[in-house]
Amino acid sequence: MTEVNGSASPQQHSAQESSIPRPLRIALLGFGTVASSVARILVELKPSGIELTHVYARSLAKRRAAWVPASVAWSADVNAVLDSDVDVVVELAGGLEPAGRWVRKALTAGKSVVTANKKLIAFRGVELERMAADKGVYLKYGAAVAGGIPVIPAIEQGLIGDRIKRIDGILNGTCNFILSKMEEGFEYAPALAEAQAKGYAEADPTEDVGGFDARAKLTILMRLAVRVAVDPEAIKPRPITQVSAVDFSYARDLGCTIRQIARADRSDGKIAASVGPTLVAMRSPLAWSRGTENMVILTGRYGGDVVFSGHGAGGNPTAVAVVSDLLTLAHGAQPVKIPSEQAEVDAECELPHYIRFLVDDRPGIVAEITGALAKERINIRAIVQKPGYPHHALPFVVTVESCTGSALKRALENIRGRDYLLEEPLDLQMLE
Ligand SMILES: NC(=O)c1ccc[n+]([C@@H]2O[C@H](COP(=O)([O-])OP(=O)(O)OC[C@H]3O[C@@H](n4cnc5c(N)ncnc54)[C@H](OP(=O)(O)O)[C@@H]3O)[C@@H](O)[C@H]2O)c1
Repeated sequence: MTEVNGSASPQQHSAQESSIPRPLRIALLGFGTVASSVARILVELKPSGIELTHVYARSLAKRRAAWVPASVAWSADVNAVLDSDVDVVVELAGGLEPAGRWVRKALTAGKSVVTANKKLIAFRGVELERMAADKGVYLKYGAAVAGGIPVIPAIEQGLIGDRIKRIDGILNGTCNFILSKMEEGFEYAPALAEAQAKGYAEADPTEDVGGFDARAKLTILMRLAVRVAVDPEAIKPRPITQVSAVDFSYARDLGCTIRQIARADRSDGKIAASVGPTLVAMRSPLAWSRGTENMVILTGRYGGDVVFSGHGAGGNPTAVAVVSDLLTLAHGAQPVKIPSEQAEVDAECELPHYIRFLVDDRPGIVAEITGALAKERINIRAIVQKPGYPHHALPFVVTVESCTGSALKRALENIRGRDYLLEEPLDLQMLE
């Protein structure tokens, strides 16, 4: 490990004292899906320069694994592990607390931290990185966005010479699985049930389907790639729960499919960001990502588009990212400091929209809707109505030219509560 801010890592002290660098001593906090995969890789591959020495697991009896070497100390006391002589703490419990307290304690004690915790990094990353820098240690979180896809290392190294102006990402494997199932003809509820049966979705799927998980990852990417630190709460995610199989049928007619897209754009000094189900053209790489895959497209001012795709979650892919961070620490690759400025999300993405209505049909409905759109100066592109649906529950779609979500919301507000509307119209952005 290299010297930072004039202080030296424990490994470096050891190297200076004995001239034989000793491996970095690693503690795992938590022993669930990702942590056990990290341990498995460390045990099987024995990567040089790192050694698993401690595991903290609150449910020790349930988690203790016979395949972990006897030299590893297991403990149900997190403070005993944090107070031990480990060099690097790997936090793999998740959530804001107590993970945040553990990470602060480790950094304060001069230990580097590796984590896959997107929530902690999205909400507390700036503060924790400052703490790490003050202590001359590192906070690494390559696994926090897109699991096993090395997007963060690519931003920190291969793309550091560019200025990224736009991010388009499929950042939540659970939503991608559900929406790809719906593309095959399933309705939302059975697609979610299958995701839960396969272990891709939690019993309470809100964090994923509500867009909160993707939002956390988007704000991390915005800080590193677009170099703006925004409050995650400033981005209001839209859930995928309102999308139904009929929307995929209409999307197909428009040459599109539907994906949960996390998008950020910095242009003319303004920052726009959104998360939600979005129509994407079939010819876009975003449409190719299926099942639990993730995809990120970064658009640079100089380099243009770079596309990353692969397994965004799962124990093994995520553990690869964690172990790669550990090896970076062990072998002294000096990360480039990426400056970011505190910023507001102060613009809206201006895109074409797809609006699907479900109505009890009668004369005059289309005229009323087009009138409401015209009042907001929103141009209509097409009105599409597929045959085969009953008049008393008729879905039809209006697509409109680029406009802001708030202008469209005002237009739809004008027809809210009309007795012919059987449900709230579904408004989706369209990426072309
Ligand atoms: N799984 C993935 O595909 C994936 C992908 C990318 C990032 N991540 C991130 O990786 C981290 C770990 O995820 P995971 O899937 O491995 O989770 P997991 O399987 O639920 O394991 C979490 C581990 O942490 C422990 N833990 C949780 N809350 C705790 C608390 N309050 N106090 C003490 N111990 C606690 C659990 O204890 P018990 O042993 O008692 O259950 C368990 O051992 C999370 O930040 C997650 O967001 C996961």
